[in-house]
Amino acid sequence: MDELEHLIDEARAAFEQAADVARLEQVKGQFLGKSGALAMLCKGLSSLPAEERPKAGARFNDVKNAIDKLLAQRREAIQAELLARKLEEEKLDVTLPGRDAGNGGLHPVTRTLERVTTLFESMGFDVADGPEIETDYYNFSALNQPEDHPARSMHDTFYLAGEHGPSEQYLLRTHTSPIQIHYMEANRPPIKVISPGRVYRVDSDATHSPMFHQLEGLWIDETATFANLKGTVREFLRRYFELDDLEVRFRPSYFPFTEPSAEIDMTFKDGWLEIGGCGMVHPQVLRNVKIDPDTYQGFAFGMGLDRLAMLRYGVNDLRLFFKGDLRFLRQFS
Ligand code: FA5
Ligand code: MG
Repeated sequence: MDELEHLIDEARAAFEQAADVARLEQVKGQFLGKSGALAMLCKGLSSLPAEERPKAGARFNDVKNAIDKLLAQRREAIQAELLARKLEEEKLDVTLPGRDAGNGGLHPVTRTLERVTTLFESMGFDVADGPEIETDYYNFSALNQPEDHPARSMHDTFYLAGEHGPSEQYLLRTHTSPIQIHYMEANRPPIKVISPGRVYRVDSDATHSPMFHQLEGLWIDETATFANLKGTVREFLRRYFELDDLEVRFRPSYFPFTEPSAEIDMTFKDGWLEIGGCGMVHPQVLRNVKIDPDTYQGFAFGMGLDRLAMLRYGVNDLRLFFKGDLRFLRQFS
């Protein structure tokens, strides 16, 4: 019986030593397994005299129950330790500052677009837009730029595949001037409208991006003159840059859809930067939209919105606006 008593102590000590459940299961085998210590002792029972067996059997069962109980206790203790350790390791420090989702901001070109639109609205202009995918007719032909016109080569763009006749050919618009045509097809003079939008060309350098933005302006009535054109553009630019003595230059130029035509330049670095084109709407363009050029006249302009943003914010490479680098973009929000 001493031997059985001793076995309980031995089991207690061995269970205590097992650091985790896996180890505990191995140790359990040494005592309760098929060839464990208890099983060995059990074999010895059969060699006892018959009258001693019931008492020895009961004693044997007590010891087995005691070891079972020790095992269960140790198992629980190990699990409790494990849980306590996990709770300690995964503890939340509720005093740490939170990680917020971050505030969004408007893109500098979007800000420019909104600001420019507000300024023109305050000068009495309506706002219209048009499709970014145009037909050859609206982007070129209706603007007095027939298929073989050399000025077209300056507007190399992205053509869309498909079965279209020559003037039905789809392309990404190269300027916002086609909106003039859509607007004049739908509205009769007097017309005073601006049309900002995204346009595309095969271009890329510090002042050119393959996708950029223009702001079209169109003013048609019975008396609008080139002097009104210059006054309107100057007034807008003064307000936009908040400078009364702003230097603006009108440089004679050529567009098939205006006559006479000019480029609008502003000072930039040590020279001039072109910000737009303009001119008196060509009589043929008015005829194309069934407006009588003997009664009506007017002017149009198309300015680069990204160039306006670039000058206002002092950015020296226009492509930075579209690289998606948040370190750059966050400076404007
Ligand atoms: C035109 O696109 C004419 N439609 C403008 C016009 C409208 C003339 C109405 C007369 C009447 P131009 O190709 O010069 O013109 O482009 C106008 C402006 O867009 C340029 O002065 C420049 O500011 C801007 N621009 C042109 N190409 C790019 C480009 N790749 N990236 C950024 N800005 C550009
Ligand atoms: Mg130009």
